[in-house]
Amino acid sequence: MSGRTIIIGTGSSLPRKILTNQDLEKMVDTSDEWITTRTGIKTRRIAGKGEETSKLAAAAARQALDMAGLQADQLDMIVVGTITPDMTMPSCACLVQKEIGAVNAFALDLNAACSGFLYGVDLADKYIRHAPNMKILVVGAENLSARTNWQDRNTCVLFGDGAGAAVLTGGTDDRGLVESNLYSDGRLWRLLSMEGAPSMNPDLVRKDNDGSYIKMAGPDVFKHAVRSMGDAVSRLLERQGVSPAALRLVIPHQANIRILNALADRLGVPLEKVYINMVKYGNTSAASLPIALDEANRAGLLQHGDQLLLCAFGGGFTWGAALVRW
Ligand code: ACO
Repeated sequence: MSGRTIIIGTGSSLPRKILTNQDLEKMVDTSDEWITTRTGIKTRRIAGKGEETSKLAAAAARQALDMAGLQADQLDMIVVGTITPDMTMPSCACLVQKEIGAVNAFALDLNAACSGFLYGVDLADKYIRHAPNMKILVVGAENLSARTNWQDRNTCVLFGDGAGAAVLTGGTDDRGLVESNLYSDGRLWRLLSMEGAPSMNPDLVRKDNDGSYIKMAGPDVFKHAVRSMGDAVSRLLERQGVSPAALRLVIPHQANIRILNALADRLGVPLEKVYINMVKYGNTSAASLPIALDEANRAGLLQHGDQLLLCAFGGGFTWGAALVRW
């Protein structure tokens, strides 16, 4: 391969309905002040009819294809990072394929929670290294509101719905994905989890499956997120000989403003270089990174040659970092 994997188009899609902190004050015992200071979130989007995960994903994909100047039938592969697919089978990726008419692609979902988009980019890169002409659509899309316990103030204030997408292919120069690193630690799964539907096999029915809601040990997740993402980023930058000061922009998973403050502090990156949009959308899990990437891209924040750092952390635990020369 002569060049690296490059991003040739980005897109994003958000549901119409906006849920504010003031709305949440009427639903659970919370306050705008508490949510704002503890999380940095003011509003989040909530999906309605016609805004299922696959529909949001398809809308984001169309935008990314449009920017890339490609037709859907030119795609070779579709990867959708999601923990909230429309259904268990078929995959959300197959529904996206149908929705956009990507008749020549193969399609698969990838469950790495909030790290889903980053995992998807890493996977796409591995294919493109072997076949640089491949055009791969990587999407992060979620409908977390459908799996949120709206009586649990510990979690319901955090999440939102949306989708982001990118089209990747092989480049010809030194621009593109320089290195990506992924990690996971299944031993910590209990700290952040969401059960699936109960088993239909009576021998396997679990009495403690109390609903398919997001459950979280907030302070523990917080500590691990800062430490793990910080370590992943530091190791990557060190190996590549890139100083934090040389980064044009850091686009992290948008979980919580305090996680990002702590991460920026740890890395020695000024907060102005960290792209933050959780104030508008909350935590959209796998969708958060590609939505932020699309916004930054469309706002013209990235110029050719700029060094961009992506990082994410989520349930599993899963985490990772990627360095991109834009
Ligand atoms: N409104 C008002 N009070 C609340 C709320 C709320 N929405 N939620 C919790 N509280 C209360 C708690 O009950 C507790 O009260 P108590 O002291 O009387 O028991 C108090 O606030 C402090 O609770 P903590 O959980 O210790 O609050 P903390 O300062 O840790 O903030 C938070 C909670 C925001 C969840 C924090 O732990 C955090 O950011 N964790 C990271 C987890 C995260 O962002 N997860 C998202 C998914 S994971 C991911 O994307 C990486």
